Amino acid sequence: MPRGGGALTRGSIGAASAAATQDEVMNVRVLVVYASRHGATQGIAERIAARLGQGGVEVTVKSTAQAGDLAGYDAFVIGSAAYAFHWLKEATAFVRRNRSLLASRPNWLFSSGPLGTETIDAQGRDVRAEAEPREFGEFREAIHPRDQRIFFGAYDPTSKPIGFIERFTRMMPAARAAMPAGDFRDWDEIEAWAARIAGELTLVPAGSR
Ligand SMILES: Cc1cc2nc3c(=O)[nH]c(=O)nc-3n(C[C@H](O)[C@H](O)[C@H](O)COP(=O)(O)O)c2cc1C
Repeated sequence: MPRGGGALTRGSIGAASAAATQDEVMNVRVLVVYASRHGATQGIAERIAARLGQGGVEVTVKSTAQAGDLAGYDAFVIGSAAYAFHWLKEATAFVRRNRSLLASRPNWLFSSGPLGTETIDAQGRDVRAEAEPREFGEFREAIHPRDQRIFFGAYDPTSKPIGFIERFTRMMPAARAAMPAGDFRDWDEIEAWAARIAGELTLVPAGSR
């Protein structure tokens, strides 16, 4: 039976929930897939995967480059670091390339983005909302994520810069001032989100792939 619109189950949620046995829950296969330049987003992906694993689902965590064939997974959590208001190219390409399959299975998106401890900026705007990558509008239309999150990220200005934007930013005093150094990942928030996903995954019938 085809699965449409990122629906949580092939049938109704209630029917699937009632019908799901413990074995079926154990066999739900989830791929947590990420794109990361300096490791902060990889760390978030691994923490989400670890939390999902505690919920009894079968979890694989891979970079977008290593993801391989997606046909064997029932659900996806997809994340990338944001640079200059955009997801990393390989993450955007991953979603576009696999658009049809992702749209047909439950999926969740996260972005590893803003730095610092302020959740409201000097203009009174929500820092997380402002950090939403430009691609998310397209992705909401394309693959119907069940939820999306912007997580605070991490930045080590002593790490080797990768790419033009990073090198350029390091040279600009104003840009440097706007990018506080440190690890601002909120593990409680990340784990709470993963726990919510774990709860929803118990409603996904195993082998729906
Ligand atoms: C040059 C540069 C540009 C950045 N641009 C953005 C941005 O536009 N939006 C954002 O939310 N975070 C931005 N960040 C913060 C990164 O997204 C954050 O450090 C992220 O956690 C890095 O993840 P990674 O270690 O997986 O690459 C920027 C960081 C750097 C160094």
